[in-house]
Amino acid sequence: MVEDGSRILSSVVSSQLDVHAKYGGVVPELASREHLRAITAVVRQAMEQAASSYTDLCAVAVTQGPGLVGSLLVGMTYAKAICFARGLPLIGVNHIEGHIHAVAMEAGAKLELPALALVVSGGHTHLFDMRGDGVYRLLGKTRDDAAGEAYDKVAKLLGFTYPGGPVLDQLAPYGRPGAMRFPRAKMKGNELDFSFSGLKTAVLRWVESRDMTAEIETRRAFVKHTPRPSLEQWLSITPQTTLDAIAAFQQTVIDELLTRAEAAADAMRAQSMVISGGVACNAGLRAAAQRSRLPYAVFFPTPALSTDNAAMIAAAAFPKYQRGEFADMTLRANASLALAR
Ligand code: KG4
Ligand code: ZN
Repeated sequence: MVEDGSRILSSVVSSQLDVHAKYGGVVPELASREHLRAITAVVRQAMEQAASSYTDLCAVAVTQGPGLVGSLLVGMTYAKAICFARGLPLIGVNHIEGHIHAVAMEAGAKLELPALALVVSGGHTHLFDMRGDGVYRLLGKTRDDAAGEAYDKVAKLLGFTYPGGPVLDQLAPYGRPGAMRFPRAKMKGNELDFSFSGLKTAVLRWVESRDMTAEIETRRAFVKHTPRPSLEQWLSITPQTTLDAIAAFQQTVIDELLTRAEAAADAMRAQSMVISGGVACNAGLRAAAQRSRLPYAVFFPTPALSTDNAAMIAAAAFPKYQRGEFADMTLRANASLALAR
């Protein structure tokens, strides 16, 4: 629950990671089933934490998309049911706009416009020119994998657990990023677009060029009895050369993200930069952005608000509430809803 678009009264996140971990990625069918199982308890807990009840609500915000359609439908149906039963207005919010608002909610007036927004998650690597609330222009996006997806796929091929981003991020400081060099993507056409499939293939080729089967199998066997290894445990079953490859991979992703974000910010004369979405948790990315001494402020959400959460959706709904932009019961979930073109 969020008050006035900025004060978080409660934020409840129900993690399904353990359900998906053994499959090495999100299984859509299991995701919607888990949403269904969790939603009533999550809403009840959010009310309890905020010491509130349905009578305190002014509106219900719901993620319209993009995302997995089954999971979106569960939230959409539940939100509509609350609105119908309580006579409350319904507000549809774009998932990506939610990620941007996770930052806007915390930064408040310090976030000067126009801002360059880099939304970087398991499904998106998008650059937006943001001029005002609801005023976005798409400047560039990934042509293949999202950055988070690249982390997850590289982690999986090396025998690490899902989600791969947090594990590789933890291990990267133990490797030497200069020990090897992975290729940077050269974009024809829009130079602000991203591509991570070449990098992923380069890591795959590197693995294939060495005999790593035993090492990878050791990690896969280890997580069968210890599903969430500690950093020390990962380090004990990961040789230095693999740590070097992880550091080089992370360095490449960070370079790709920041080079294009900075070029886009320069081109649009941005007054600030917003980096949001699950990959914004990345410690290396945060450190690199702080080190670059840019002529504008760079804002990251606190890690708890970087990955998917309901508070950012409620925050993004508030300006729409003020403008009276309400949806009706025909609002549909849209798995590929665009924020801007
Ligand atoms: O925003 P999010 O929670 O869900 C989507 O909308 O996709 O992002 C999840 C993604 C996953 O791919 C995960 O591996 C990545 O964010 N991620 C990270 C880190 N923490 C989460 N990637 C790199 N470094 C991290 N520390
Ligand atoms: Zn997300």
